[in-house]
Amino acid sequence: MYVLGIETSCDETSVSVVKDGRDVLSNIVSSSLKFHRKYGGVIPEIASRMQLETINQVAQEALSEAGIRLKDISLVAVTSGPGLLGSLLVGISFAKGVSFSLGVPLVGVNHIHAHFYANFLNAQAIKFPFIALVVSGGHTSLFFVRDFQRIDILGQTQDDACGEAFDKVAKILGLQYPGGPLIEQLAKKGKGRRIKFNCSGTTGNLDFSFSGIKTAVLYYLQRKDTRSRIQKAEIASGFQEAVIDALVKKSLLACRVKKTGRLVVGGGVIANNRLRERLSLAAKEAGISCFFPPEGLCADNAAMAAGFGYQLYRRGFRSGLDLTA
Ligand code: KG4
Ligand code: ZN
Repeated sequence: MYVLGIETSCDETSVSVVKDGRDVLSNIVSSSLKFHRKYGGVIPEIASRMQLETINQVAQEALSEAGIRLKDISLVAVTSGPGLLGSLLVGISFAKGVSFSLGVPLVGVNHIHAHFYANFLNAQAIKFPFIALVVSGGHTSLFFVRDFQRIDILGQTQDDACGEAFDKVAKILGLQYPGGPLIEQLAKKGKGRRIKFNCSGTTGNLDFSFSGIKTAVLYYLQRKDTRSRIQKAEIASGFQEAVIDALVKKSLLACRVKKTGRLVVGGGVIANNRLRERLSLAAKEAGISCFFPPEGLCADNAAMAAGFGYQLYRRGFRSGLDLTA
């Protein structure tokens, strides 16, 4: 079954064709990032306008790269939330149009769930149940996944999302948006934990908090009047290690609490190599198998929406034309 996936939750316009929930035939991602950079973050109105202008073209490219025609599509899956309201509405309206005109079913997909589903694309199936950690620019969540329809939330951020903290700390350090990859680069020039930060302060055991550490970095910088690149590298490194401490600790704790030996991760922040390295090592030491999304499927993309939508469809789930963001 060919599924057309549509993802417009943030600055990306992405359309993908996925066969039977696993084989990615095409996955076109067009980003409006360069128009947001000078503002230091995504401007919702700019994002949705660009999506409106590009979605048709992106969909045509996705079909042509997959080597199929529109009439070959049997299901339309679309990200219906969470995300930027205007942006989501562009994707949803487009998806409804395609679904209605072809007379094929429509499935709305939760964006955060789709992030961990990326692990199932072009890859072997992972056995249920498992713990899923999703770390992106908008979310930081731990789930207990019994199957694709029974997903319990175990913990989440109480304030800033993990990627958001990377972006804000990058801004404090004078780096561009999005700051995650730049912090990672800068941290390589630092020496691990010469400057110590921490991410404590959450109430629930499996919840996260990244707002305090951001402020701690700001105060540190103000106190020390740190301007040199090498000092900034030490700050970036200390910050990154502290964030990773929290992600590793809580993910493994979730595995222990739920007595599962499988940890599946996803989201834009998972592109961070230091995080991958430390998660893999800690999981191995604890006897847990840790799964990462295939290359290029950590950040926002429509393939994960198409794949996850297919799984929901197979389990009887359908959305109506009243689907909204
Ligand atoms: O999943 P994603 O593409 O979009 C959302 O759903 O939010 O994640 C984007 C986030 C941004 O905050 C970005 O700074 C962060 O992922 N990110 C990283 C890295 N690459 C992207 N954070 C840390 N290290 C990276 N290498
Ligand atoms: Zn995302």
